[in-house]
Amino acid sequence: MAKRRLPGPIFHYIDGAADDEVSYRRNTEAYERCDLVPNVLAGIKSIDMSITVMGQKLDMPLFCSPTALQRLFHHDGERAVAKAAEKFGTMFGISSLGSVSVEEIGSTISTPKLFQLYFHKDRGLTNSMIERCSTAKFDVLALTVDTITGGNRERDLRTGFTSPPRLTLKSFFSFALHPRWAINYFMGEKFELPQLKEYVKEGSSISVSVADYFSTMLDQSMNWEDAEDVRKKWGKQFCLKGIMSVADAKRAVDIGATAIMVSNHGGRQLDGSRSPFDQLAEIVDAVGDRIDVVCDGGITRGTHVLKALSVGAKACSGGRFYLYALAGAGQAGVERALENLRAEIERDMKLMGCRSVDQLSRDNLRWR
Ligand SMILES: Cc1cc2nc3c(=O)[nH]c(=O)nc-3n(C[C@H](O)[C@H](O)[C@H](O)COP(=O)(O)O)c2cc1C
Repeated sequence: MAKRRLPGPIFHYIDGAADDEVSYRRNTEAYERCDLVPNVLAGIKSIDMSITVMGQKLDMPLFCSPTALQRLFHHDGERAVAKAAEKFGTMFGISSLGSVSVEEIGSTISTPKLFQLYFHKDRGLTNSMIERCSTAKFDVLALTVDTITGGNRERDLRTGFTSPPRLTLKSFFSFALHPRWAINYFMGEKFELPQLKEYVKEGSSISVSVADYFSTMLDQSMNWEDAEDVRKKWGKQFCLKGIMSVADAKRAVDIGATAIMVSNHGGRQLDGSRSPFDQLAEIVDAVGDRIDVVCDGGITRGTHVLKALSVGAKACSGGRFYLYALAGAGQAGVERALENLRAEIERDMKLMGCRSVDQLSRDNLRWR
């Protein structure tokens, strides 16, 4: 549905990844590396799939990762995702490149909220984001650490994707072929990036590619001291998003982070980078008793969530699983995506003979 409803460049921005998209494919394939071993006759009528991660109690062990520019995918954008997440008692993330303000989300949504911070060269902008999220009562700040430069997303190079979308002869035709999207985009609320617009026009009212944004606006010299400073300024639950090595996971503990998202950014940054699920056990073994470990990306099935939790993740998260649904049918679509996955997790836990997620362990897994 997303492919049908969206102009090509926007669909490929969601669906694409870096270089040959090897990591992107592997992120899901990795879950086939191991098999679940169920226990039967466990007398299970109902299950409890709630978890606590980053100090937040969630009704399901999967949450919506922060993703940029959501009002390009559906005119309700972040509002739709936030409301759907609230309905399912789970967390969602608002990106620094989000298209609805943190103030609006903070005042309308009661479920746990994560803000994803990009570390901009302009410290005034970075600090203003932290302060605004604090005032808007966001629960978690996640600093993204895998984007100091843009990934080589060749589909975006081919389609010429920018934010906001640039009107060219080619894009005009793709808009004309998707009139419902075009009417909502051009006649509805003006597209902007409210977390940025007071400081920079790029991305909000001046069209730029996401790769150029990362390379020119973000601080490529960001280091561990900067991450620790952000943690101190924020002072609440603090997560590093995009940790892949054991050494970095240990440093995250050292600087006082309360969580890490093991993530290769959905394969959109360093192609050939290991998949989060392949890398999960090493990281859980090293730091799992001191910090919450989230397995991010590649999730398309309830069994993927069960496998990651069995290895020792506290929760799973993903982007595309709800973004295609958002593009396809707005809030109703995201609700359907969450409902499908919730129902799968429930069914799979019953079939595994597990009443609650703490009964999942590596004893339930065998590696091929
Ligand atoms: C369209 C799109 C936009 C994204 N925007 C951001 C972003 O602004 N900040 C960020 O930290 N991660 C961003 N991500 C990465 C997601 O947070 C998440 O790590 C990734 O989607 C996980 O892979 P999955 O899509 O296979 O679940 C984006 C991902 C997609 C697909």
